[in-house]
Amino acid sequence: MNAPHPIPYQGSKRKIAKHILAYFPPDIDVLIEPFAGSAAITIAAALAGKASHFHINDLNAPLMALWDAIIHSPLDLSQKYAHLWQEQQRNPRQYYDSVRNEFNRTHKPEHLLYLLARCVKASVRYNPKGEFNQSPDNRRLGRHPTRMSEDIRAVSGLLRGRVTITAQDYKKTLDWVGQKTLVYMDPPYQGVSGNSDHRYYQRIDFDEFMQFLAHLTSQEIPFILSYDGRTGTKTYGRELPLELQMRRIEVKAGPSTQATLLGRKAITYEALYLSKALVERLGAEIDTIVERQSRPSSRQLALFEV
Ligand SMILES: C[S@@+](CC[C@H](N)C(=O)[O-])C[C@H]1O[C@@H](n2cnc3c(N)ncnc32)[C@H](O)[C@@H]1O
Repeated sequence: MNAPHPIPYQGSKRKIAKHILAYFPPDIDVLIEPFAGSAAITIAAALAGKASHFHINDLNAPLMALWDAIIHSPLDLSQKYAHLWQEQQRNPRQYYDSVRNEFNRTHKPEHLLYLLARCVKASVRYNPKGEFNQSPDNRRLGRHPTRMSEDIRAVSGLLRGRVTITAQDYKKTLDWVGQKTLVYMDPPYQGVSGNSDHRYYQRIDFDEFMQFLAHLTSQEIPFILSYDGRTGTKTYGRELPLELQMRRIEVKAGPSTQATLLGRKAITYEALYLSKALVERLGAEIDTIVERQSRPSSRQLALFEV
């Protein structure tokens, strides 16, 4: 069954969700996503019955207000999105700019949904003043309201009544941590691109994050971390300290879009780090999962999905 995904979001883990879910222990009650974005792993986990309560968090407050509207006011949000989508038809380019101005003034959820559906690469970009400044993708008008409302309704049905939504720094999201908690983390990309990059929410302090991981490790909290990866032989992302005793696993994410655009063939692999506590919980099962995922049948499926 395809997972619904109302929020188009650059960097979404939707396509590799099933590979990540494979490492969930069977007895998880609460799943926490401190860097939720489009919450692809939470949605996939809810659909697969992998946990009974979910905590989604992201520093981007308007994004979490959008999540609140998706889950708690699906009909109202769908109607507002449909209205914007219809109204844009006369002059889509100009209309996008007017919605963007309005969003920067009011931070209304329906405006953010419209902007994400229409902007270049579904990529959230803010200027130093905190204003959304991504341009529209003029080749498309954004997802049709009928399909959008189907996905909104489906996600609301999956999560309503069993989700906690917060908009704070990731370090404050551990209130729910108990014996049967799993934390899935997909922090902003840790590449070395310069600071002129105006993607407002795209950086966290490396050392602070390592301290956070060390804390989770010392508390024996099971977590899965998406961090670095490689395309062909080119790796990206910084190396993580060995003393955290995490196990690194590679997941085949599919052909690299960048390489394909340049007429080259290269496969991207994304790394998953399993915490020491999780490795101990899963025991020898981990090797079986790794082996199962590398079989030709699952490889073909991954390619097909891309
Ligand atoms: C790579 S994206 C997560 C994508 C997500 N896994 C998905 O499937 O859509 C990283 C997210 O971290 C958020 N973020 C950045 N700094 C943060 C912080 N200090 N605390 C919490 N979230 C943060 C960003 O707003 C962004 O949505």
